Amino acid sequence: MIKSVEWQNNLVKMIDQTKIPHIFEIVDIKTSEQMYTAIKDMIVRGAPAIGISGAHGVSLGALELQNETDKNVFLDKLHKICEYLKSSRPTAVNLAWAVDKQFELAKTSTSQTVDGVIKELIENGIYLENEDIEINKKMGDYGAEVVPKGATILTHCNAGALATVGYGTALGVVRSAFAKDKTIKVFADETRPRQQGARLTTFELVQDGIDTTLITDGMSGYFMSQGMIDFVVVGADRIASNGDTANKIGTYNLAIVAKEHNVPFYIAAPLSTIDISIASGKQIPIEERDHQEVTHINGERVCAEGVHIINPGFDVTPAKYIAGIITEKGILRAPFEESIKEAFSK
Ligand code: MRU
Repeated sequence: MIKSVEWQNNLVKMIDQTKIPHIFEIVDIKTSEQMYTAIKDMIVRGAPAIGISGAHGVSLGALELQNETDKNVFLDKLHKICEYLKSSRPTAVNLAWAVDKQFELAKTSTSQTVDGVIKELIENGIYLENEDIEINKKMGDYGAEVVPKGATILTHCNAGALATVGYGTALGVVRSAFAKDKTIKVFADETRPRQQGARLTTFELVQDGIDTTLITDGMSGYFMSQGMIDFVVVGADRIASNGDTANKIGTYNLAIVAKEHNVPFYIAAPLSTIDISIASGKQIPIEERDHQEVTHINGERVCAEGVHIINPGFDVTPAKYIAGIITEKGILRAPFEESIKEAFSK
């Protein structure tokens, strides 16, 4: 299995997701600054994938400080690199989760030398990288149990192998369901403005031989009203303690339409996407992206000059629309305050 992000010989190999499906290219990320740019420019994207990239970014930053002999100075400089990496994208909490985990490891390491700390950071980054795939497979198995036989599943954005290290969260559920039942089908939302659904999700699913139909974002209500969708599963970028969930812009509309048509709406996300430090979705920072993503398609302007643009990358779906949150610890149900607390204590 090709990993979207992989630590190899003191650098990170990464699939350039801005070029798929036209070009499949692996790029080398050699410095913490290159990692910052790769995350910001979405060469790597998807909450778990940017989390692991952040963890490796810390290791790259630590390698840049290899000649530092004083451990306190090393930690001070590493802390600045961690804050810099975390500032590359604000919404997906997996990034801060992984970077903070790495910094905590460096801080508490009993290693006497800077080289020793760097070795531990690299090893931990590789551990998190491999663990991500295991977690996704567990989620896939739990999720597959609630997918109805022969279901047509609707998904939004890309929560697949590319958005993680491998296998995927929402697409992990699809993959596990397909392994059990070859008759399932997928409807993939195009996902404007960056078209992760059209470019990445269809790329993954067609490769797996899963029957996939691409629709534009505005079509989901129509297909639900026609009884053509049985199940919705999407990923998440940050989940608050009460279950409110931030995911790619357009997810909220989908959840409301699903509720109206009694179609179960599920989130698939690892516990690292749950931010227990915040009470509700109101506290989730929403990334505002480059306006050119809206005004232009394939480099060509598609709207009048002078028009106003707002381009939030994410929206928040209130917990009341969510049938369940599929995690590696099982499927969490309402009241989410309780089920989330319980999952963290397991
Ligand atoms: O802006 P992106 O492409 O990073 O947004 C990705 C999403 O919203 C995904 O649905 C989410 O990160 C979950 S990925 C397993």
